[in-house]
Amino acid sequence: MILIDGKKLAAELREELRLEVEELKAKYNKVPGLTVILIGDMAPSQIYVRNKEKSANEVGLKSEVIKYPEEVEEKTVLEKIEELNKNESVSGILVQLPLPKHIDKQKVIETIIPSKDVDGFHPMNVGNLSSGYESSVPCTPLGCYLMIKKIEPNLSGKKAIMVGRSNLNGKPMAQLLLKENCTVTITHSKTKDLKAECLEADIIVAAVGIPELVKADWVKKDAIVIDVGINKTEKGIVGDVAFDEVSKVAKALTPVPGGVGPMTIACLLKNTIDCFKRSQN
Ligand code: GUN
Repeated sequence: MILIDGKKLAAELREELRLEVEELKAKYNKVPGLTVILIGDMAPSQIYVRNKEKSANEVGLKSEVIKYPEEVEEKTVLEKIEELNKNESVSGILVQLPLPKHIDKQKVIETIIPSKDVDGFHPMNVGNLSSGYESSVPCTPLGCYLMIKKIEPNLSGKKAIMVGRSNLNGKPMAQLLLKENCTVTITHSKTKDLKAECLEADIIVAAVGIPELVKADWVKKDAIVIDVGINKTEKGIVGDVAFDEVSKVAKALTPVPGGVGPMTIACLLKNTIDCFKRSQN
């Protein structure tokens, strides 16, 4: 079984990106800039944002975090985004989710100019991805995709299953694999026989937030299994895949933690650099 080492792959990607930033700096005399907006003081969001800032600095990006208290008015946030949209030194804008209830997530996402939407959440980027055009791709599925490609460069004709249909992962992941000529199934809580669907698949991407849902007898021998889940349980953090038993059946499997997570952040840096490059053309 191949343990897909997300930490190592992310470190390799960051090193590639660091070299690319050096080249861009030499060519344009400026570096890509990432601005993250963080609202409130939810602990997981604070940790994610700190990690994003640390990684951005490591590859030489200009990075800025704008913090607002939980009670900030929606209008204040939207005006700040408008300002960042116009600011030439900002290549990418990310508003950390989830947002407080009084702020309309869709409005926030649609206010970010698509060319700086490093999350790939804007409807224009979602549409471009599903049409097969150039777009920002959401960081988590992009990270999963790069890991799958490391294991199996030719995905043509493979059966892939998404366990979970979120906008954050399942749907964009399906689009990426469709582009690679996979036969893609998207499942969800109303899917009739999830086990039987999973057993058909060469590639399983689990992103539903149910601890250890995917069991060994759901997995075809030599399947590639990507675990996007991060679930807090009595025995600590576990994914959506029963790691120990599935590792005996799968060809390759991501651990939790140390799998998808580090790649997600590295892909955010990649998206920021890609937005910068497109803005220079
Ligand atoms: N919160 C958890 N994951 C994400 C993400 O990928 N993007 C944003 N903006 N917020 C998140």
